[in-house]
Amino acid sequence: MGVEGLGVLPAARASVTYRPLQPADRDRLMLFHDSLSAESVYRRFHHLLPHLTRTAADAFTATGAGGRHAWGGFVPGADGTGQALVAVARGEPGGAGVEVAVVVADAWQGRGVARRLLGLLAAELCREGRQRVYLDVQVDNDRMLALVPLQARRCTLPPEEGLLRIYVDPDAWRRLLTGGAGP
Ligand SMILES: CC(C)(COP(=O)(O)OP(=O)(O)OC[C@H]1O[C@@H](n2cnc3c(N)ncnc32)[C@H](O)[C@@H]1OP(=O)(O)O)[C@@H](O)C(=O)NCCC(=O)NCCS
Repeated sequence: MGVEGLGVLPAARASVTYRPLQPADRDRLMLFHDSLSAESVYRRFHHLLPHLTRTAADAFTATGAGGRHAWGGFVPGADGTGQALVAVARGEPGGAGVEVAVVVADAWQGRGVARRLLGLLAAELCREGRQRVYLDVQVDNDRMLALVPLQARRCTLPPEEGLLRIYVDPDAWRRLLTGGAGP
């Protein structure tokens, strides 16, 4: 398959480092996307998307522009040089507020990576004073729903086409995700 992220076996949670994505991460992001299972892509985007175009990857990595945020989880590359991307959490401003979404490489799921990334993203949204923050989550996505505790939810819209729109209180969410750790 020749996908960089696939050659990296999950080791300890501590081996993942976290930082905002930068334009130079575009190719890493495209490789990461190609490495995801069809189910993970569908859960993240709610439709099939086998590849990210360069244009889309450029937009995803242009953080800061237009109030966009994207944090990545990185591990050393398969050949021991460079970095491979194993997770991305995004905050995309739009008419309904800031939409948050996250996806973790299949082999790295269940290790606390999404919790950490979302905690970092929520802290950033708090610093900016964002009040309208939401996620669109498939009604049967128990793993994602577990990361949006009831105490962090402001309101949940009735499902439309299998998607729940959940508005969160960014500060309460940040505290719940991080166990109360500082911003
Ligand atoms: C949802 C997703 C982002 C979670 O990432 P992750 O790194 O595996 O999540 P974490 O390990 O940080 O935490 C998962 C939480 O879900 C819980 N969980 C794990 N498997 C679960 C399951 N089958 N049912 C219910 N809860 C589950 C864990 O207990 C954990 O909670 P805890 O931290 O209190 O123990 C990941 O599964 C993924 O990328 N899925 C595909 C894309 C997607 O669904 N994106 C959401 C779009 S908004």
